[in-house]
Amino acid sequence: MKSKNAIIIFILIVTTLNSFSQNYDESKVGEYKLPELLVREDGKDVKTKSEWEKIRRPEIVKLFENNVYGKVPKDFDNIDFKVVNKDESAMNGKATLKEVAITVSRGNRSITINLIMFTPNKVKVPAPMFLVINHRGVQTMDVSRQNKDGFWPAEEVIDAGFGISGFDVIDVSPDDNEKFKEGVLEVLYPDQIKMSNGMRGLGAWGWGASRVIDYFEKDKLVDATKIISVGHSRGGKSSLWFGAQDERVAITISNESGNSGAALSRRDFGETVERITKNFPYWFSANYQQYANNEDKLPVDQHMLLALIAPRAVYVASAADDLWADPKGQYLALKESQPVFNLYGIETNLPIEMPKINEQVIRPHMGFHNREGKHNMTPYDWQQFINFANDYFKK
Ligand code: GCU
Repeated sequence: MKSKNAIIIFILIVTTLNSFSQNYDESKVGEYKLPELLVREDGKDVKTKSEWEKIRRPEIVKLFENNVYGKVPKDFDNIDFKVVNKDESAMNGKATLKEVAITVSRGNRSITINLIMFTPNKVKVPAPMFLVINHRGVQTMDVSRQNKDGFWPAEEVIDAGFGISGFDVIDVSPDDNEKFKEGVLEVLYPDQIKMSNGMRGLGAWGWGASRVIDYFEKDKLVDATKIISVGHSRGGKSSLWFGAQDERVAITISNESGNSGAALSRRDFGETVERITKNFPYWFSANYQQYANNEDKLPVDQHMLLALIAPRAVYVASAADDLWADPKGQYLALKESQPVFNLYGIETNLPIEMPKINEQVIRPHMGFHNREGKHNMTPYDWQQFINFANDYFKK
């Protein structure tokens, strides 16, 4: 009897492990068919940018809201900006540091986002600004610059003539399965929690980034027409959903965002919707759960998210050893988003094959690189972002 039980338990363990096993074998990816980007829900083809903007784009936004990330609420009563620290000779005089408390209220309740920003003193016009949706903690953005973290290489960015900024996502929605509600969800938008298409972590972080742009629009040191959103991994997923919706973002950058970010969900390689919804349910609306192990039923795939960013610019970064995030699936999604850019007359022309490791591809309104090495955001990645932004803003 005992041995029979042991066998049953063993079979259960093996089946569970198998149902979670990840594919890392290109030959086992299998066939998949992506949802049509340019076919409307009524079956008609989208042939012009006006049909895209008026009909198909809103349809796709709604599909992502209702099935993946949840709908981001837009209403609040008041927003208040307070510069709590300012140093015009930061970084030995080459930058201005500001710490800004952004307080958003609805009714008599409010939350505060603590923005950290440096702008280059050598730039006499308002500076283009990188904005990082930061889940790695405020210590990665040390205002004293004692701790210089490669994740947020402020000196290099300032030297290149850009501003760099960021906020810790904990101010908006803690990155935690239990605590994610403590923040904007419980305080400002409690109704969202009950809704099956309510906003969750990734959407909330983007909501916070939008409030930061509300501030940038008022700060003369910042060129609010040149905001570059950056996020790594989970932050990259959030950056894409944010950049797709907030049209004030000029360039949207996703660094190794992988599954439910820049990688195609239907491509069975690395992380899957099943794994991500099991491990991180609080990032997504409750409705997303139904697509676990059921990706073919998703009415969207991630190329459609990248396409929502058009005609503004999108940049997708990968790392060669970061197979969990499926570098190839990210490149393919970028390629598949091209028809929408082309509707605007933008000749994106990405190479058919994924570029070689460490070979950056810059095309009009679109860029990609696959860095050697592991899952991380490094000064090398930042150098590629700067190259791309320089090229894009020159035009
Ligand atoms: C996990 C998760 C990924 C995510 C990553 C990160 O690995 O499965 O989806 O991108 O964490 O944020 O670093």
